[in-house]
Amino acid sequence: MPGPESQLETRRAAPSSTESVTPRLLSRRTVLQSLLGVGFSLQCVELITSVTADLRRTRPQGGDYFVGAFGDQQGQVITPHDLPLGGPPLIAYPLDPHTQTVRDGSRLNRVLLVRLAPAALAEQTRAVAAEGIVAYSAVCTHTGCDVTGWQHQSQYFVCPCHTSTFDPKDRARVVSGPAPRPLAALPLRLVDGKVTVAGPFSGRVGAQQPRGDRHEETGERSGHRDRRAAAESGSRPEHPGVPSGHQRAAPASRA
Ligand code: FES
Repeated sequence: MPGPESQLETRRAAPSSTESVTPRLLSRRTVLQSLLGVGFSLQCVELITSVTADLRRTRPQGGDYFVGAFGDQQGQVITPHDLPLGGPPLIAYPLDPHTQTVRDGSRLNRVLLVRLAPAALAEQTRAVAAEGIVAYSAVCTHTGCDVTGWQHQSQYFVCPCHTSTFDPKDRARVVSGPAPRPLAALPLRLVDGKVTVAGPFSGRVGAQQPRGDRHEETGERSGHRDRRAAAESGSRPEHPGVPSGHQRAAPASRA
């Protein structure tokens, strides 16, 4: 019969079934919990990514601020001091102040901001201006080019593609050129010294292309489907004469 010491050695050499199984169970449970945790985290990341993408594509909302779209003021919140009286305009994107999301997921959200003498504004335009600052869609209503030109003397916006001109003092009405309708206006107000969106666009944004008996709103020069994604994502269609990545609209004439 083994003595007490050899009994103790036997117990040490042959651990109980509970001792041998529990670590495996714990290990399996830990792995499962980890996998579930990873899966949940991935779902959260996907959800957050999707919500952020939606916010970036959403049209300007009341209460949004503006940030510069290009150049030195890219990402900087715009105040009246950033806009010289009489132009040139600044190209900007709306910013959701709650989530700090810049709505740059669609080029249809690009906006021309320009500060003009309030007395020079037509009555309907003064009603949606903030101390002479007016905002309009920066996408031409003809075939969707970026409206980047500025005629200093007349204070007109100029589209470089087919030279449509728009008067920002009077609802961005078409002064000349093939554009079929004004640029959509975006009502403004000043909040805490920041230029702020006061309401939705006054009308359709971008060009309208016929497709059979239907019409399609687009921000591109042609109605080809394969170019629409690029237009929505903010990548610029190749427009002759349109400079890339500049911050202010280019002067079309200094005369
Ligand atoms: S005039 Fe602007 S796209 Fe033609």
